[in-house]
Amino acid sequence: MKLAVAGTGYVGLVTAVCLAERGHDVTCVDIDEKKISLMKNGKSPIYEPELEDLMHKNSSRLHFTVDYSAAYKNAEVIFIGVGTPEQEDGTANLTYVRTVAKQIAESIENDCVVVVKSTVPLGTNDEVEKSIRENLSHKVIVHVASNPEFLSQGRAVEDTLHAKRIVIGVEDKKAEETLIKVYEPFELPIVITSRRSAEMIKYACNDFLALKISYINEIANLCEKVGANIDDVVRGMSYDPRIGNKFLHPGIGFGGSCFPKDTKALYFMAKNNYGIEMRTVKAAIDVNSTQRTRLFYDARQKYGSFDGKTIAVLGLTFKPNTDDLREAPSIDMVSLLLKDGAKINVYDPVGEENFKKIHKEDVQYFSTPEEAFKKASIVFVLTDWEQIKTADFSGKIVFDGRNCVNNFAVCEYYKSIGR
Ligand code: UDX
Repeated sequence: MKLAVAGTGYVGLVTAVCLAERGHDVTCVDIDEKKISLMKNGKSPIYEPELEDLMHKNSSRLHFTVDYSAAYKNAEVIFIGVGTPEQEDGTANLTYVRTVAKQIAESIENDCVVVVKSTVPLGTNDEVEKSIRENLSHKVIVHVASNPEFLSQGRAVEDTLHAKRIVIGVEDKKAEETLIKVYEPFELPIVITSRRSAEMIKYACNDFLALKISYINEIANLCEKVGANIDDVVRGMSYDPRIGNKFLHPGIGFGGSCFPKDTKALYFMAKNNYGIEMRTVKAAIDVNSTQRTRLFYDARQKYGSFDGKTIAVLGLTFKPNTDDLREAPSIDMVSLLLKDGAKINVYDPVGEENFKKIHKEDVQYFSTPEEAFKKASIVFVLTDWEQIKTADFSGKIVFDGRNCVNNFAVCEYYKSIGR
């Protein structure tokens, strides 16, 4: 099928490449000319395992352009995968989605199905449909469907090609049949719902997972006080199939482009639009905001001010296998440490380039964990990269925010979360 994808971020580009891998002809559209020319040369603008290999493998079926009009004109299906960043008031910013909807309306010359993949507040699909229908340049029929994305960064290709399910939210048969045809070659379970339900499924999933993390972090914090060990507690919990063993890893909280944004988006949408206070979602947000920096305060309480001390920060990205720094605890931690007068040595195998956009001169970069902490009096582990987990921390004072250091027995002092 002839498809177009608007936006070449984590969702847009990965979706496009995986659709091409399953045999579709896909044109990717982005406003960023630099990114487009990079991709035309076979390079991925984001770090994501397998992505570049699949771009090369499917290059005959993948096209990249800034010319949205040419891309949308005769597409059978157009996916919207642009960002919906958090605004100052916590709600999702729909500017990019609205712009793309308008561009689609002005460009399409044949009937088509427009699919909203971006995570959007409830009712956005209706708004997109209305906007496209009102702005059409040609007399064509447009169907709008919701198809939320559940990929997780660092395993985005795997999560897309072998998704646990495909959720399709539709209001008519044509959209349903078209999307079933798109996803047929994936051979995955398909859940068909109304558009509203599909929009809700996405938030309900992300906010539930965020709540699970905040819950286990609170239990972990309490474990420390009462002398229990969170590893044992999770082990004991996980045999209950109603609880399971996933997303119960304690640490310094969730970051990334989804959980922080989607918890706030749902909370404020419910409150502002429906007068409903989502107390469980609020709890997930509140616990996470203090959890992110708790190791800073633990260390400061034990060792006093960081003024003049050399501190190693290991791991900058919000999780391993990504170069993404969005809502990464490292940002809050480094800013607190700098304010307190610390001299900071950092290490991250992939996130350095992006971190330099925030801190160029005021922190020092090293190419191995050992070099970064050699002269440091205190070490903070903030991301569980393999290189960090397996480093030799002999004689060091280590605050491990991911409970991940393998051989912690060799540390002079070792503090993790809930153990
Ligand atoms: C998440 C969802 O997993 C994905 O389905 C959705 O589409 C987008 O949001 P992502 O943000 O890429 O994906 O990462 P994920 O692996 O879910 O981790 C999110 C954050 O939670 C990370 O900061 C991670 O370190 C943290 N986390 C995760 C924990 O602290 N404990 C856990 O047990 C799991």
